[in-house]
Amino acid sequence: MASQAKPDLTAAAPVHGARHVAIIMDGNGRWAKKRLLPRVAGHRAGVEAVRKVARAAQDLGLECLTLYAFSSENWKRPASEVSDLMGLLRHFIQSDIEEFHANGVRLRIIGNYRALDPSLVELIDGAMARTAANTGPVIAIALNYGAQDEMVRAAQRIAERVAKGELATQDIGIDAIDAELDTADLPPLDLLIRTSGEQRLSNFMLWQAAYAELYFTDMLWPDFDGRALAGALDAFRMRDRRFGGL
Ligand code: IPE
Ligand code: IPE
Ligand code: MG
Repeated sequence: MASQAKPDLTAAAPVHGARHVAIIMDGNGRWAKKRLLPRVAGHRAGVEAVRKVARAAQDLGLECLTLYAFSSENWKRPASEVSDLMGLLRHFIQSDIEEFHANGVRLRIIGNYRALDPSLVELIDGAMARTAANTGPVIAIALNYGAQDEMVRAAQRIAERVAKGELATQDIGIDAIDAELDTADLPPLDLLIRTSGEQRLSNFMLWQAAYAELYFTDMLWPDFDGRALAGALDAFRMRDRRFGGL
């Protein structure tokens, strides 16, 4: 909820024109390595960047900010790192959910989070329920998320509906697939940012990125902040989006 003193930047369409920005938050390990610190220190600094960027997203009038926090492929990392990441996530939700709620933010999770530790699933479900009725921006966290896995789960649900006779094969179109993805009720993706200099999607929002603008920066995720997000939105504003037309 916007306070009285602060202008409600979400009231009018923001000048950059973006509704939904997604970020592949990469480079925590390299940030730590540069400082001769353990990788977990980079992940901790990464959480601080999440806080800054989530606040900035609200001030910049975004309807939705989606953050890639843990991929379905990140299970390949050493068990100790996976456990550090899950611990940080748990702590982040516990400590920040009230601030999100006070600001009218809706917390969402995309990805197969139900496969995580049951106590974490319970915490996430509680946090989502707590903020579900809010009307402010959505902060969506991609957890145990892989776009290919998301599409497989969507295909399975569509097949079940066809088997039950609820849907005819010829009625499976773009809208039917959109409706079964984890992002079904989120605005269309406008801008996809990746930090750390890597120029790949790493199985993130492959369907949703069909016409998103891509923005790559060499900044490592822990160094990214509100100014960096505003800079990416400035670049977005200068892009000529044609969607296949003229
Ligand atoms: C991003 O930072 C965080 C996650 C993938 C969870 P990395 O841990 O991938 O950092 P680098 O790429 O090794 O620097
Ligand atoms: C992508 O980063 C996943 C997240 C940021 C959560 P990775 O560091 O896992 O990607 P790759 O392995 O370099 O492609
Ligand atoms: Mg990485």
